[in-house]
Amino acid sequence: MIPRMKFDLPGVDCSAWPMLDTSDVQSMIDEVRVWYHAISLQGIDTPGVYDMRPYVERYHMPDLEGLEVLDVGASNGYFSFLFESLGAKVTSVDLPSYPEHDYPKWVLERELSRRGKEELSLIDWDELHGGYLVAAHVLGSKNERVLTRIYDMPDVLEPKFDIAFCSNVLVHLRDPVGAMEAIRAVLKPGGRTVIATPVLREEYGEASAANLIGFVDGPAWWVPAISTFRRWHEVIGLKDVEIVDEFDTQRAGGDRGVDYTAVIHATR
Ligand SMILES: C[S@@+](CC[C@H](N)C(=O)[O-])C[C@H]1O[C@@H](n2cnc3c(N)ncnc32)[C@H](O)[C@@H]1O
Repeated sequence: MIPRMKFDLPGVDCSAWPMLDTSDVQSMIDEVRVWYHAISLQGIDTPGVYDMRPYVERYHMPDLEGLEVLDVGASNGYFSFLFESLGAKVTSVDLPSYPEHDYPKWVLERELSRRGKEELSLIDWDELHGGYLVAAHVLGSKNERVLTRIYDMPDVLEPKFDIAFCSNVLVHLRDPVGAMEAIRAVLKPGGRTVIATPVLREEYGEASAANLIGFVDGPAWWVPAISTFRRWHEVIGLKDVEIVDEFDTQRAGGDRGVDYTAVIHATR
């Protein structure tokens, strides 16, 4: 008899989610049609659009042993599971449902009117929850997963975190500075932010500048100059703001584009 199970998340419409054969890692991976992260699951790499493994050092993470670490916008959870393996107690935040992305309202209305309940449930599985749940199951993860919009984190999380990690999320947000305030609010005093986002390549000195991308093939808003990204930290009262690295990130699959990413550390 094949051991089969279906994941279920409270408050999320799981009605169209697939039954999984939990004895076969490859078949579980195949049941998720969109993998964001390449993650090694019992020696099998998930077909992620992004392989973040070559970039881990660029985040300059401190020793995480015994620390409370928040991974905001965890996606399939590559970083969450890595931090767990390094001894951290990890909380992974992501959206409850795909349409809760920061879409312009007219785009959201259009998308919701085009798609039925079953399709929306499947999008939530394929693009938001399935990859994380399958990976967590296979890895035997003890991470806590909290489903909330980034802006609402202070309402649902205690200010207990030593480290709040947030990589490649701000670009998807209408209000990145408000989101950073929410991140700061869940840090314990002295806690540290590690925030990474695509930035402009051009030098703007101390001038404030940000490129408005607007909706392209998903919610995409602001790409700041690096000086502006730094300033976002300062205006919300973060201290010890330090640009720790800048680098090109290549999408898996070669010719799908390059982002220029900056990583900033700061403390509350
Ligand atoms: C581009 S992925 C980044 C994944 C991972 N942090 C990394 O750097 O590889 C963006 C993630 O942020 C989440 N996200 C987008 N908007 C969000 C919001 N308003 N609140 C919480 N999470 C959000 C998405 O669901 C997705 O998991």
